[in-house]
Amino acid sequence: MGSPARAPVTDSAEIYQALANYDKPAIRRYQRRTPMADLSHLPGTWGVPFFGHLYWMLKDVHAWMDRQYAEYGPVFRSRSPRLDSVFLLGPEANQLVFQNEEGIFSNFLAWDQVFRTLFDNNLLERDFADHKANRRILQSAFKRPAIEGHMELMNPMLRDGIFSWQTGRTIPAKDHVKTLLLNTGASVFLGTEAADESDRLNKAFTDIVAATADPFKRKEIWFSPYVKGLKGRQVLTDYMMENIPRRRAQAGRDLLSQFCQLRDDDGKLFSDEEIRDHIIFVLFAAHDTTTSALSAILYTLATNQAWQDELRAEMHSLNTDALAFDDVPRLEKTGLTLKEALRMYPALSVMPRYTLRDFEFQGHHIPANCIVTVSSLFTHYMPEYWTDPHTFDPYRFSAERAEDKKDFFQYIPFGGGAHKCLGMHFSEVQAKMFLFHLLKNFRVSKDASMTRYRYNNIPLTFPVDGLPLRFDRL
Ligand code: HEM
Repeated sequence: MGSPARAPVTDSAEIYQALANYDKPAIRRYQRRTPMADLSHLPGTWGVPFFGHLYWMLKDVHAWMDRQYAEYGPVFRSRSPRLDSVFLLGPEANQLVFQNEEGIFSNFLAWDQVFRTLFDNNLLERDFADHKANRRILQSAFKRPAIEGHMELMNPMLRDGIFSWQTGRTIPAKDHVKTLLLNTGASVFLGTEAADESDRLNKAFTDIVAATADPFKRKEIWFSPYVKGLKGRQVLTDYMMENIPRRRAQAGRDLLSQFCQLRDDDGKLFSDEEIRDHIIFVLFAAHDTTTSALSAILYTLATNQAWQDELRAEMHSLNTDALAFDDVPRLEKTGLTLKEALRMYPALSVMPRYTLRDFEFQGHHIPANCIVTVSSLFTHYMPEYWTDPHTFDPYRFSAERAEDKKDFFQYIPFGGGAHKCLGMHFSEVQAKMFLFHLLKNFRVSKDASMTRYRYNNIPLTFPVDGLPLRFDRL
């Protein structure tokens, strides 16, 4: 059960080669001539005409997956406008898809619909040999010396940013976190110093992100979010093309400077265009995900005052005003909190892949040329793996209980396999540093009328009410 049957490589040999070489014209030819597979033989329904299951997915994808699972089991089909998909749920499915040992799954052909022309040539949409080569190079920019440089930049920015928040009254915490991370990102990732320049780039970046959710993505619709996003991309492109030569000449501590120094095994540097595309995507991959994680953590801390005090004591026990690299693992309880928040509220609740070949999974025939979807959210609440999964319980991740260790693929907030999040460590550093400056100086609380975390999981997990929280100076 669960292991894929090897299907003969037929016309797919060509697409494998095109993906491995990132030969986009050849990939596009394949896309044009290859119809999506029919999935009607799989368990499930098509939902309502045209919209399929879209309404239920947008309303509460978790509840919808639970219902589908209860009725049809771990494999079922779904429909939303322009997209049919097979859901494969549970750790076994996660392992099959993320490990991708048989090379069945393509990232490009799945993520392309979301990223097309907005985040071109990014790492997540690359496959096989081409992905491996690019990831190998980019990895060096996420090692200790680089992160230490970023920490120097981030410590004062996060501290001052938090201190500028209004205290003593309820404020939309998610929006404040978002702006703080955008400003920090402009400096840490791009090396911008002037505030008005950061604002301009942040606006452009926000427009690109909004455009990914435009279902039509048509250039002709001049007032659409997509066209706004394309203009935003041009603003970032102009900035990069002007600044890359400067960073090559004089490197700073920012990520753009790091990317300018990266070399492949033959000593060749990335081209200006490659740097531009990689950095624009990293901005995207880093930003909303971390905003989502910090929003969830703030809610859990506002709800659990005693636990918040324990974290505060942990921060004080470091006896320092600025977090250093070696302090990060010492914030153990904060680490457990981060893990638990990402279990309950994973930023990316579902992840798509495209099948290049037929395979069998749990007695079902899954055809080539369809989208399969795996879900962190579903797996993170499976009662077979988690005690009382709806309860906030950071100690479930402690060494003694190690609830997350029953199956290597039961806990996947950062994905898994070859495409596992490249910024995982960076995000831990940033989240802990944020909490370090916040909790040492402020108490976070919520109104008694706020009885639950009001959030949506699609497209990313975000509070729907801006997260009204109160911060009081200690
Ligand atoms: C809490 C914060 C974050 C979460 C929850 C998160 C989650 C994820 C997930 C689930 C994936 C895999 C998606 C898939 O397989 O389809 C991913 C990939 C990626 N993430 Fe993150 N991420 C976070 C922060 C960051 C940060 C801070 C950076 C960069 C500084 C980053 C850079 C990337 C990159 C470059 C990839 C693509 C990796 C590849 O394809 O090889 N992420 N992230």
